[in-house]
Amino acid sequence: MNVPAYVKNEKAITWIKDIAALTKPDNVYWCDGSQAENDTMYQQLVKSGSFIKLNEKKRPNSYLVRSDVSDVARVEDRTFICSVKKSDAGPTNNWADPREMKVTLNKLFDGCMRGRTLYVIPFSMGPLGSHIAHIGIELTDSLYVVVNMRIMTRMGKAIWDVLGSDGDFVPCVHSVGAPLAPGQKDVPWPCNKEKYIVHYPEEHAIWSFGSGYGGNALLGKKCLALRIASTMARDQGWMAEHMLIVGLESPQGQKTYVAAAFPSACGKTNLAMLIPPDALKTWKVTTVGDDIAWIKPGKDGQLYAINPENGYFGVAPGTSEKSNPNAMVTIKKNSIFTNVALTPDGDVWWEGMTKTPPPQLIDWTGQQWTPDCGRKAAHPNARFTTPANQCPCIDSEWENPNGVPIKAFIFGGRRSNTMPLICQAVNWAHGVYLAATMGSETTAAAAGKVGQVRRDPFAMLPFCGYHMAEYFDHWLTMGRRVAHPPRIFGVNWFRVDESGNFIWPGYGENMRVLKWIVERVNGSARGFESPLGWMPLYEDIDWNGLEFSRKQFDDLMKVDTELWKKEIQLHEELFMNLYDKLPRELNSIRELLLSSLLRG
Ligand code: OXD
Ligand code: MN
Repeated sequence: MNVPAYVKNEKAITWIKDIAALTKPDNVYWCDGSQAENDTMYQQLVKSGSFIKLNEKKRPNSYLVRSDVSDVARVEDRTFICSVKKSDAGPTNNWADPREMKVTLNKLFDGCMRGRTLYVIPFSMGPLGSHIAHIGIELTDSLYVVVNMRIMTRMGKAIWDVLGSDGDFVPCVHSVGAPLAPGQKDVPWPCNKEKYIVHYPEEHAIWSFGSGYGGNALLGKKCLALRIASTMARDQGWMAEHMLIVGLESPQGQKTYVAAAFPSACGKTNLAMLIPPDALKTWKVTTVGDDIAWIKPGKDGQLYAINPENGYFGVAPGTSEKSNPNAMVTIKKNSIFTNVALTPDGDVWWEGMTKTPPPQLIDWTGQQWTPDCGRKAAHPNARFTTPANQCPCIDSEWENPNGVPIKAFIFGGRRSNTMPLICQAVNWAHGVYLAATMGSETTAAAAGKVGQVRRDPFAMLPFCGYHMAEYFDHWLTMGRRVAHPPRIFGVNWFRVDESGNFIWPGYGENMRVLKWIVERVNGSARGFESPLGWMPLYEDIDWNGLEFSRKQFDDLMKVDTELWKKEIQLHEELFMNLYDKLPRELNSIRELLLSSLLRG
């Protein structure tokens, strides 16, 4: 194996040699991250039939990819946390014995890259050299992964300088699990029916086999930046969260940063790039991140957050000029589109992009499509991969290595009833309760049933690398550790009326709720006490330019005691499941909540 002269990290070199010896690729290629390298890779992907180059005039330097129909989402039932002790993974994770898993994986990885190239991808999660950032090295046999990682992370030669001879990194091994026999023709999307997404939290190591899709394969994202990072954060006194980060600038020029957690496909990218309605145009919203936040206490007693990512891997369906004009600008060039539909003039389309679908398309499976054919043109979990610095509303501080100070945490699920539009926790521990008991109706981002309510604490259920109750405990500790903890809020954009229509217009109008949050944080807005926490009255929300009646607002804010009694039972079920490590405060808060609800 030829090691480039600029690679000085012996630990990395030995590990890469070991993996190459196990997986037996035809070649090892060290990615330098350059433009020339990237151009060559795209050419290769087009030549091999994996990528389709989009119309250069309409979508410069952009590509369409169709995955195998069996490989379209994260596979939570094939995702494992292999801590030494089962009790450290907790009941919400799939645990497997690390020794047994290593035996299984060693067999699967033995020779799995035959006929392919092993690509070495050095990458930084977070701005290079930031004290909040971490370095990973992904070894993969998928060129799709390489070009996506170049957008989603800071990737390339410069990482080796940061790593030096003895710097630490998270080793990430990935294979599509489809070795090629001599002369065997490759398929456009190689993958394996058998899939394993494996994390060793004590070793901070990741092994992924069989899938080429999104979070299963771009290992910097969910695997490193959330599952492994959450365990590092617990041990080192920081936080790795499934949160977007936005700056909200008032007409007076005062900027307030907030971080918000929502389960997958609840419009996080839309909220991160929100455009205020005309009447609130004097407010500015700027994007720091759309999916993940790494947060550390600063010397001034505030919590500071960075976005560890360098791009957006956003859900395409539903993204439009109406729902997210900023995203539509961001994806105009230099983007990869996976599982969307192709228009006859070489551009992309997906459900919700325009009101009227084009009369003819090639759908995400490569078949002819017409609006009346009864199939979706794009897969519901179709994605765009696009560079963050193309976002027109990117925050000026988004690459500040010290992060931005967070003043509020917002938690929201997709709930058609029960949860009000907005409420504020009375204190940190109550906020931790509110986030811990979050629930959401499921979407297409993960394989499985769509539309059922599942508890998704902190929107971290699929992403917490250790026992969820210990994670709650870590949150309680962090609140005590800092002098100025952010205020905590709960929101729900998704409540429906009797006919099943959304009551709240959402999108840009969410600015009205954010405005109340900012004003609460800065001490200027009123709130009244309810059993669920502090809530605004109708008069406390800025309705300028929107016709929204008091009755509609009351419908959105109603705390239905009967529904809440059931809800609290579900909280109890969650807590029972976590009882062995559950912080006692949370049970006490549950009881308090129940008594105040019963009082009315
Ligand atoms: C994502 C997810 O891709 O949460 O961001 O599934
Ligand atoms: Mn996410």
